[in-house]
Amino acid sequence: MLTMKTISFKTLGCRLNLYETDALASKFRERGFVTDGDFENSDAEIFVINTCTITNQSDKKSREYINRAIRKGSLVVVTGCMAEQYAQNYLPDSAQVIVVDNKHKNLIYEIVEAHLGGEIVDTKNLDGDVFGFEAAKETFHTRSIVKIQDGCNNFCSYCIVPYVRGRAVSRPVEDILQNIKTELGYGFKEIVLTGVNISKYNSDGVSFEDLIKKILEIDGDFRLRIASIEPDDFSDSFVQLFKNPKLAPHIHLCLQSGSNAVLKRMHRHYTREDFMGIVDKFRAIVPNFNVTTDIIVGLPGETDEDFADTLEVAKKICFGHIHAFKYSRRSGTLADKMDCQIDEKIKTQRSKILRDLSEKLSTDYLKSFIGKRQILLTETIEEDGFVYGYGENYVRIKMKMSDGVETNQFYDVEITCIEGDVLIGKED
Ligand code: 5AD
Ligand code: SF4
Repeated sequence: MLTMKTISFKTLGCRLNLYETDALASKFRERGFVTDGDFENSDAEIFVINTCTITNQSDKKSREYINRAIRKGSLVVVTGCMAEQYAQNYLPDSAQVIVVDNKHKNLIYEIVEAHLGGEIVDTKNLDGDVFGFEAAKETFHTRSIVKIQDGCNNFCSYCIVPYVRGRAVSRPVEDILQNIKTELGYGFKEIVLTGVNISKYNSDGVSFEDLIKKILEIDGDFRLRIASIEPDDFSDSFVQLFKNPKLAPHIHLCLQSGSNAVLKRMHRHYTREDFMGIVDKFRAIVPNFNVTTDIIVGLPGETDEDFADTLEVAKKICFGHIHAFKYSRRSGTLADKMDCQIDEKIKTQRSKILRDLSEKLSTDYLKSFIGKRQILLTETIEEDGFVYGYGENYVRIKMKMSDGVETNQFYDVEITCIEGDVLIGKED
């Protein structure tokens, strides 16, 4: 074992990165390291930057954090999708920086240990495993994220992910069930399933639906949340699973565009009508089912009419939240080679309109909870005398602190009103 050293992590991008950072940080802690959550002020001996390259902006942010860590003079481990794609082109070729690709991310502890022991490690000689992460004992948040899948075969025309995370692979069922049981044993009460394209999960004939059923059969007082998912032909039996109160009535279902012409150019294999049909199916089971989404504005050739179509679909669905992305050219993708790239100013305008709409829709959605009940999972106790957390629909709730109230507990609350983007819950 190494002597007590301090390590600080910075995570950019998706939930998969969050999961992988949680698992790595936990492994370092278990082996005697101290983790410092305050990256900015940290003078840790080691920094790990888990990067993202989904847009230019993500690249830029990743680079900024890498440079900041390098300036601190510590050992810097650069991993994640941006490291995979571009790091070699501009990172200093120095012993201070170690680049670890996604495939070997699970070995960062071993790589750092060897490095500190004076060894020069060539990851090419190591067998990485995209599922080779240990269950995290403590995480940087209340929910426990569990990785069930990695990679994607869809090749949407704008997206770099299949090039940096590789083809779709599914984690063995028993591994997932064991990971979840371990996390529940550590006291976590909410499990979030994550991956790049999780509805395509298939391990030895066990489908995504089968997997969810198996997880729901695990004993214990917990709830299961499905994070980001691609629109698919969800069967009736899959949708029916949401009748089980253990399965949170919320999905992050990626629309990307509400225009059929744009969806076609994106190589998305559904229409706006299909998408609205899927949402209707879920809401037929749970009427206030929360659907949040990702939308890209400014794909090459996107007209004002296309954008108006997107706004129309968003309003019809009343998304709980829209994550608006300005289309960003990614070298090597099909959309990068398309004619009619959209002016940055127009993208910015459309993004602003969409964000404003998201705020309005989110408020409308939240208001629909007044007078209804939610099961609040408490996360933090704040100085304002309230305890904060999320309901099963992934709505933020605060409740007045009273004797005996603790974090990481479920409370059945009545929603009395809304304050900004937070619901006020009352236990009775
Ligand atoms: N430009 C902008 N947004 C993108 N996304 C993926 N690729 C791009 C790109 N080139 C968005 C999609 C995806 C989310 C994770 O990132 O909306 O769902
Ligand atoms: Fe990218 Fe499309 Fe795969 Fe999502 S489904 S990761 S947007 S290629």
